[in-house]
Amino acid sequence: MHTHPTARAMLHQYPNIEQLLRAGFSGDRNAFRTELEEIQKAAETAGDEVSLRILQSASAGVERGVVEDKTDLSQKEAAFSRTLQSEDDIPVGLSLLKTNVSMDHVILPEHVKKILYDFLNEQKNNKKYLDAGLDPRNKALLFGPPGNGKTQVTKALANYMGCPLYMVRYDALISQKPGETSKRLRAVFDFAKTHRCILFFDEIDAIGKERDDPNETGEMKRVVSMLLVQLDDVPPHVMVLGATNHAKMLDRAILRRFHIRVVLPQPSADEFEKYLHMAYAKFGHYPYQTVTHRNEMRILGIRLQPENFADTEVFVEDCHRTWIRHDKEITIEAAIKEAIANWSDTRTKVPK
Ligand SMILES: Nc1ncnc2c1ncn2[C@@H]1O[C@H](COP(=O)(O)OP(=O)(O)O)[C@@H](O)[C@H]1O
Ligand SMILES: [Mg+2]
Repeated sequence: MHTHPTARAMLHQYPNIEQLLRAGFSGDRNAFRTELEEIQKAAETAGDEVSLRILQSASAGVERGVVEDKTDLSQKEAAFSRTLQSEDDIPVGLSLLKTNVSMDHVILPEHVKKILYDFLNEQKNNKKYLDAGLDPRNKALLFGPPGNGKTQVTKALANYMGCPLYMVRYDALISQKPGETSKRLRAVFDFAKTHRCILFFDEIDAIGKERDDPNETGEMKRVVSMLLVQLDDVPPHVMVLGATNHAKMLDRAILRRFHIRVVLPQPSADEFEKYLHMAYAKFGHYPYQTVTHRNEMRILGIRLQPENFADTEVFVEDCHRTWIRHDKEITIEAAIKEAIANWSDTRTKVPK
């Protein structure tokens, strides 16, 4: 291999590069900055636009105290386009989830949607951020009461990103053999790092419990420590998603590892109404279309007093089932009326 002609020309044109390198290797940031400025001036004088741009982004990095190694950067970038080689490589404790849930079919408050889209688009436009010396954020934790879409949203995110989604299976991951669980956890991360993917810790409190919980054995503490180390170490092309109904029980240190922590709140009356329309449409039903009935769906949402979307989904299914029981000979509105009459009887609350 021979020296690239422009590289040789560069050393002639910018003799300060040698001093710059010296300053860089000795870790003298002030000298580094001075040399960088000298070269920048020379590039400006020479009208060397390309070098000037590179130098400017490098000096922006020095200001923030991060001098990215170029080879490091291109490796980081390349990892975003690596794909799974073979499903046979999937380790114990992970299962590949296939999903076709669309982001258009999850109902979320606008501010939550914005947070999630910013996160996704940062990941999609990773090059833009890497070039500016920023790692795209890759860790997000969803929490909030059950049945409002934590699992569903994760599937939709994976679908939007178009990369594999791996669900961490605690039953398979956790072993009685000392040290084995940590070893498997490490293997899970090692595997994930080989390509662009999403690791999903659903009900993450199951393994990330507060370490000073007196009921915890030493083994679980080791697992939490291992999880912390792995979360620190995970490169930006691996997205880590966590979900929990029990954020309070989660180890604080684990909580802090997530760049984004967002609550999926209990839905509003508006959101229930929107959801009902969507859920009926899935079965091919379009109730209350006439102007005189335009408030019925909203009233229905309020009458059901649902706690979450999951409950609402069950109700809509009930309506469809009722309609089928009548051999499709009644209107969907009549089926809804009948289903409401039975609703509270079939949904007896289990005492707490
Ligand atoms: N935000 C949402 N938008 C649309 N459907 C939802 C939403 N949240 C929940 N659902 C419906 O309820 C079901 C259960 O939601 P899930 O994601 O399992 O809740 P969680 O994981 O928060 O307990 C889903 O399969 C979906 O059909
Ligand atoms: Mg869930």
